[in-house]
Amino acid sequence: MPSVIAITNQKGGVGKTTTAVNISACLGAIGIKVLLIDMDAQANCTSGLGFEKTPNASLYPVLLGERKLTGQIIKTECENVSIIPSEFDLCAAEVELARLSFETTKGKSRKNPDHHLTWLKEALKPIIKGKEFDVVLIDCPPSLGKLTLSVLIASHMLLIPLQCEYYPLEGISSITDLMNQLKSSGVNKQLELIGVLMTMFDSRTNLSRMVVGEVREHFKDKVFNTIIPRATRIAEAPSHGKPIIQYDPYSAGSAAYESAAIELAKRLGIKQ
Ligand SMILES: Nc1ncnc2c1ncn2[C@@H]1O[C@H](COP(=O)(O)OP(=O)(O)OP(=O)(O)O)[C@@H](O)[C@H]1O
Ligand SMILES: [Mg+2]
Repeated sequence: MPSVIAITNQKGGVGKTTTAVNISACLGAIGIKVLLIDMDAQANCTSGLGFEKTPNASLYPVLLGERKLTGQIIKTECENVSIIPSEFDLCAAEVELARLSFETTKGKSRKNPDHHLTWLKEALKPIIKGKEFDVVLIDCPPSLGKLTLSVLIASHMLLIPLQCEYYPLEGISSITDLMNQLKSSGVNKQLELIGVLMTMFDSRTNLSRMVVGEVREHFKDKVFNTIIPRATRIAEAPSHGKPIIQYDPYSAGSAAYESAAIELAKRLGIKQ
């Protein structure tokens, strides 16, 4: 059964999308079949893998019940990696979800009152039952809105990227509290933290080292051993529509994401 992993942190610019794209490509390269879902209307995963924004290509028509999730999957240039892209219409999903939730609270909702919470979980069922993918990675937007909530309800695990910067733990309790709330309320009993990935580590500064120390003290062995360095090549790769293992395979950034992917596969118990 494929694991569904939400890559999430409501803080912006911490490396969620960079991690989603590069871990997907690195997992694919070691033979693990990945479905990457771009759940952010900014569509950075989509462009980072060289796709243009295309109308109706995102999960929005799936939320509306007009299309099936499996019909939105496209193969990428990376071996073993498929994507469900995003485009601007995903902005409307947040509004649609708010409307559905309002209808529910007013008692107007018809067939399925929980649709605004469970639509993604339902839509993913054929993928969970099927054998096409080993892992589903979902790149979340930088918010804890209804779109992210539906991702957390549909996921088995969370992967939290944290930037090696000031106050990395600020706001992190919002996600971990929400995770615990979803578990204890029975909405998503199996939700677990698969790991915290430290990103943009700058070896020239004491700050980066201090931050890693602080995060390890807090999250203990949940923190990945692999640390992603701050590297210009990692930042450049998306403008070429490529993950780092294709853009600069022998760089430090490439080695770091390869190692992070191997660590993730081990944590998931996937044999390579
Ligand atoms: N290891 C790295 N080294 C250098 N630059 C990086 C690294 N990781 C990410 N970046 C750059 O930092 C910026 C933010 O990264 P990214 O888009 O992955 O973050 P995000 O958490 O997805 O942001 P958002 O919250 O806006 O979705 C991007 O310009 C990206 O290219
Ligand atoms: Mg992003």
